[in-house]
Amino acid sequence: MNERWTPASWRDHPGKHMPDDYPDMSALTRVEAELRRMPPLVFAGEARRLKHLLGQVSEGRAFLLQGGDCAESFKEFSADNIRDTFRLILQMAVILTFAGGKPVVKVGRMAGQFAKPRSAPIETQGGVTLPSYRGDNINGMEFTPEARTPDPERLLKAYAQSSATLNLLRAFAGGGYADLYNIHRWTLGFVEGSPQGARYRELADKISETLSFMAAIGVTPETQPDLHRVEFFTSHEALLLGFEEAMTRVDSTSGDWYDTSAHLVWIGERTRQLDGAHVEFCKGIKNPVGVKVGPTMEPDDVLRVVEALNPDDEPGRLTLYGRFGADKIGARLPMLMNATRREGRRVVWAIDPMHGNTLTANNGYKTRPFDRILAEVKSFIEIAEAEGVHPGGVHLEMTGQNVTECLGGARALSEGDLADRYHTHCDPRLNGEQALELAFLVAEKLKTEKLAGLKAAE
Ligand code: PEP
Ligand code: CO
Repeated sequence: MNERWTPASWRDHPGKHMPDDYPDMSALTRVEAELRRMPPLVFAGEARRLKHLLGQVSEGRAFLLQGGDCAESFKEFSADNIRDTFRLILQMAVILTFAGGKPVVKVGRMAGQFAKPRSAPIETQGGVTLPSYRGDNINGMEFTPEARTPDPERLLKAYAQSSATLNLLRAFAGGGYADLYNIHRWTLGFVEGSPQGARYRELADKISETLSFMAAIGVTPETQPDLHRVEFFTSHEALLLGFEEAMTRVDSTSGDWYDTSAHLVWIGERTRQLDGAHVEFCKGIKNPVGVKVGPTMEPDDVLRVVEALNPDDEPGRLTLYGRFGADKIGARLPMLMNATRREGRRVVWAIDPMHGNTLTANNGYKTRPFDRILAEVKSFIEIAEAEGVHPGGVHLEMTGQNVTECLGGARALSEGDLADRYHTHCDPRLNGEQALELAFLVAEKLKTEKLAGLKAAE
């Protein structure tokens, strides 16, 4: 690690996509000081536990499921929304565990995923130009000069919302809601009548049967308390480094620095410059970290990022999220995976099939065709198997709500349907049904690859 690293050393490096137009910079400094006094949202020991589990993923012994909103918002904040995304993740994890026969590491893009990098700093509507919306912890989405002016008080509100979200997630994960005996109750209302709902029920029946069998031979929640709870972790893009710095604390057990805003933070495609502020910040925190890997990256770029962020080759420290687009992954990913495998670097390779498959529909909605999302995930698994790399996981933008944001899926959502329930504050998300469909497809694909692997080993 750089000898001179401190939680603030990123300030000496060029940092993109952070607002510098607060009307009163001293107000921002005051808010950051207040955040420094706030309790940590997560604990270092929990981040270490996630790193350990991701280490298992890097060794091919587990699978990562990471998902949630593109951008959390103040407006969409509610207990029901949190519960619905949480239970969707549980359902998907059951599907993936059952097929893959491996534990699924569950990570929400939740409880802190507010700040967004934007392709343009300004937006023009009807001849009026204003700063772009940058996420609810910076400015507001309404197209007015007041809303679009960055307001540091929003950081405190985002902290409070993250804290309340985490509190509920912890209660759901440990307080009985996630009890495997409740597996039938996790079905989302609107999914129940769909083909995915029926398929899920079939699976839940099988698991219930297995649980009865296990109870008969003496394995009960009393003897196995883990049947009552799940481990659940949080994550977001470490974009707004002033906030991340304020949440970075020394862990009293190890003496190391941890960013206590989330268990895992990642660096986005637009801010992964080696000499940039975001890489500098992530070098010094001991959390597990991630980096998005887009279509312009060459094998040497990937190896340099790996060296910068995981010089000691610690398993579970670094996750690489490919995000190329269904049409580009075949030409780009094989050589990148080949490079990390050749160099023996212990990283998790996962796929974000969302950000390379975004397009604008004829009616102006930003959307993503479900078949391209699926195609990129399938290619990812096939390429990983061919390169001798474990296809470690998926990173998804999704919600438990019945939104109409991505095209296609079992209900064949069309461009005309997008306007019905298009609620996202940034990128289009999979709805509950589409997310389950994806989980079933990934599960099938993993099962086929597993069988092929077993055959090859015979
Ligand atoms: C995101 O994950 O919301 C995002 C902006 O992704 P990327 O950095 O890969 O474009
Ligand atoms: Co996004």
